[in-house]
Amino acid sequence: MHEPLGGFSPDTFRRRRELTLAGLDDGMLILPAGPVRYRSRDTEYTYRPDSELFYLSGVTEPGAVAVLRPGEGEQFILFIRERDPEAELWSGERVGTGRARELYGADVVHPIGDLDGRLAELLTGSRSIYYRWGAEQHIDRLVLDALSRGRARGSRRGTGPRGVMDPGELLDELRMIKDDEEIEHIRRAARITVDGFRKALAIAAPGIGEWELEAVMEGAFRRAGADGAGYQTIVGGGKNACVLHYVQNRCTLQGGELVLVDAGAEVGLYHADITRTVPVSGRFTDEQRAVYEVVEAAHAAAVATARPGATIGAVHQATVGVITAGLVDLGVLEGLPETLAEEEKHKPFYPHQTSHWLGLDVHDVGDYVQVGRSRTLEPGMVFTVEPGLYFRGGGEAGAARFAGIGVRIEDDFLVTSSGCDNLTGALPTSADSVAELVGRE
Ligand code: GLY
Ligand code: MN
Ligand code: MN
Repeated sequence: MHEPLGGFSPDTFRRRRELTLAGLDDGMLILPAGPVRYRSRDTEYTYRPDSELFYLSGVTEPGAVAVLRPGEGEQFILFIRERDPEAELWSGERVGTGRARELYGADVVHPIGDLDGRLAELLTGSRSIYYRWGAEQHIDRLVLDALSRGRARGSRRGTGPRGVMDPGELLDELRMIKDDEEIEHIRRAARITVDGFRKALAIAAPGIGEWELEAVMEGAFRRAGADGAGYQTIVGGGKNACVLHYVQNRCTLQGGELVLVDAGAEVGLYHADITRTVPVSGRFTDEQRAVYEVVEAAHAAAVATARPGATIGAVHQATVGVITAGLVDLGVLEGLPETLAEEEKHKPFYPHQTSHWLGLDVHDVGDYVQVGRSRTLEPGMVFTVEPGLYFRGGGEAGAARFAGIGVRIEDDFLVTSSGCDNLTGALPTSADSVAELVGRE
């Protein structure tokens, strides 16, 4: 992350805190930054800031805890690491308690070392706690203590927490509707990802390693100023494309095969998520093209369905209809497409959903179903459309001629007041145009 607060304005975080405080009632929200994790002895994984903490505060350092509680007095209490020249020699500058109040707009800032005593005291004054169990072991313990004390004394004194709820109850709905600054971040991630795809697909050729496309893609992300890849880049040549989250990327691309590439840049903690499938030597075989065109038609059907008022389930059903009919046309399935779709006969070949929400997390928060009904799309939501067809071999006899072919096409969409905006539409999807991306930039 290059800019303080990830490039967001302080007012954005203040507004989100106000909305959250309004929903807290007499409860208290605790958001830890999450620990630095180790990948091998004392070598750390790259620290990734916590999405919820960032969403409400802009804090991106480890070793922080934010507390929100409505009412008189301090509403935004921030615990953060103190400056430490010895530690900063190794890991870089910290914000420190002195600067954090102004930078993050906290009502009060305490050193993280004061957390236990102060949090225990704050907890006794709250009726409910919004906290995710398992976030930090020692906070788990404080919350448990407060709960048992609340049960023991609360009935006489009317104090102490009575329950713990997931912070997502407060935050997920807010996070589903993206504001202008968030959309600008996602658009930037989308532009960088499109450019990464152009550069990576341009080097695809027989004899090139899957890892080389990954390296070009992720190099392009970093050179363009992105934080990096938002998830492990998938480069699957040939039948590796049929492994949905194939991330080994250690095979060599073969002429006559397809390569599926699924990647997304992370910019200021916001994501893009694109998949394209192209012929390694620049020309589709008849079988590959036939499969590709079914997936492309499914993608188009989803896009035609997606608009405010449509449900995310309807978007998926649009792809299932096209894919099932396509499997019949390809001679893979026999019967009426509607009946086959009801019987979920497409699932061996199309085993995943069409969409997920996209934002601070690649698979972003938010319910897909509410009180038993599929979620209705609203302006400001961002989601992927990513139908696919995968022939792993075996199964229906009619599928044999497609064995080893895996195709997915994925783009990112913003729901607008009148329809949908394809944020990654600068990268083409038609068979002929994706074939042209191979070997040239
Ligand atoms: N890259 C994971 C996904 O597309 O959902
Ligand atoms: Mn993807
Ligand atoms: Mn996706």
